[in-house]
Amino acid sequence: MSGENADRGDRDEPGASKGDFETVVAAVRERVDPDPDERARLRAVADRLIERAEAAATDRCDGADVLQVGSSARGTWVSGDRDIDVFVRFPPELDRETLEEYGLEVGHATLPGGHEEYAEHPYVKGAVDGFDVDVVPCFRLESATEIRSAVDRTPFHAQYLEARLDDDLAADVRVTKQFMKGIGVYGSDLRTRGFSGYLTELLVCEYGGFRSLLEAVRDWRPQIVLDPEDHGRASFDDPLVVIDPTDPERNVAAVCAADNVARLQHYAREFLERPSLEYFEPDDRDPLSKSELLSHLERRGTTPVAVRFETPALVEDQLYPQLRKSLAGICQGLDERGFDVLRSTALASDTSAILVELAVDERPAVERHRGPPVHIKGHARGFYGRYADDPDVYGPFVVEDRYVAERDREFTTACEFLESDQLLEVGLGAHVESALEDEYEVLVDDDVTALLPAFGSELRSYFEPVP
Ligand code: CTP
Ligand code: MG
Repeated sequence: MSGENADRGDRDEPGASKGDFETVVAAVRERVDPDPDERARLRAVADRLIERAEAAATDRCDGADVLQVGSSARGTWVSGDRDIDVFVRFPPELDRETLEEYGLEVGHATLPGGHEEYAEHPYVKGAVDGFDVDVVPCFRLESATEIRSAVDRTPFHAQYLEARLDDDLAADVRVTKQFMKGIGVYGSDLRTRGFSGYLTELLVCEYGGFRSLLEAVRDWRPQIVLDPEDHGRASFDDPLVVIDPTDPERNVAAVCAADNVARLQHYAREFLERPSLEYFEPDDRDPLSKSELLSHLERRGTTPVAVRFETPALVEDQLYPQLRKSLAGICQGLDERGFDVLRSTALASDTSAILVELAVDERPAVERHRGPPVHIKGHARGFYGRYADDPDVYGPFVVEDRYVAERDREFTTACEFLESDQLLEVGLGAHVESALEDEYEVLVDDDVTALLPAFGSELRSYFEPVP
């Protein structure tokens, strides 16, 4: 036990016994491994879909073919996840418009009652026997470097992984996905900015399993660069770089944010030391109560402010980047005016809110305005001339080698700034800006309790944060 509190640095870390680890993993597998019945049901539905898609595709285009991709094609889905991805490949000679047209027709023929969605190009989504099915058209190309859109890569990914995954690795992929879901880092959507299915599978293959992945992650020092096929060319500045085995120019981990890399490392370390099932359970936090919120505010002595507005009608992949941009813009606007930000977050449901917790929410009536050094003749005379006769200004006077004037501050409280037109001058996401132009409300101090009905559990996460 003596090493328990020592700085562990680069030395060997105490680990739990292999037995504890294996016991937990076995229990996780009970939960994530699809049983033969689930496999058979999925197989039957997928086969039926592929047959229908093939008939519809070859009817329209001689060289078309169909393949199933994604985790359900490789046995790497987590039991209970019910999506089937069917890709319809058309010859590269086809022009894009015709590909889109055929793609949708084949999609509708395969999924009666399905609806169209738009990613990089349109595809059809629908439900069949409880499975969520995508029918996505793409081009059949010689190599992933010739792709015309991101979906054209997918068949290459599928091929690459199929050649490398055996039953043991597939089982470890499922366990790894569940671990990542449990700690909140799974998904390459722009809300999560975490680890995609493909990335997770590559990492498990590269390190040889769940345990060896965690042991490697425990020792990661960003920037981490993995290049499974030794392409050795491109360079990226993301915290985690996994060069796509099928495309040397692409970082598979491009959307993975630094905090998710750090989070994975934290939980890898914790889990290896104290294996427990809890890491595999995404934890829905109980909503914070009004009295809990008020007592956090009282204890912290900060000033919470929130800008609340109607959520723009956008898909999450567009909404979250805009909220993040707006959050950064508003924080910068506050900071520049002397209202120091301690922490902040963006919240979204039917309404959205930018919540900022201020360390400083009030400033005096005057602010210091630093002028040029007196010896810089042109600027110095300009500055002096501008303020010398202004009755509202103290000075100009000299501090060290410079002119200084003290003038009236435009906003003495954060709230005045947030309620002013100048809020719209900070960097905002385009649709958030329109929403604010329409209408918004500023909540200050205890009024932020009005956020509790919509964001109770987010507020618990904010006020009782964990890695
Ligand atoms: N894909 C796509 N367009 C879609 C659906 C899927 O391009 N409309 C591609 C994805 O880029 C991915 C593969 O199909 O390469 C499967 O996507 P996804 O279901 O997100 O990942 P999985 O590997 O199946 O992982 P999971 O187990 O989370 O489903
Ligand atoms: Mg999938």
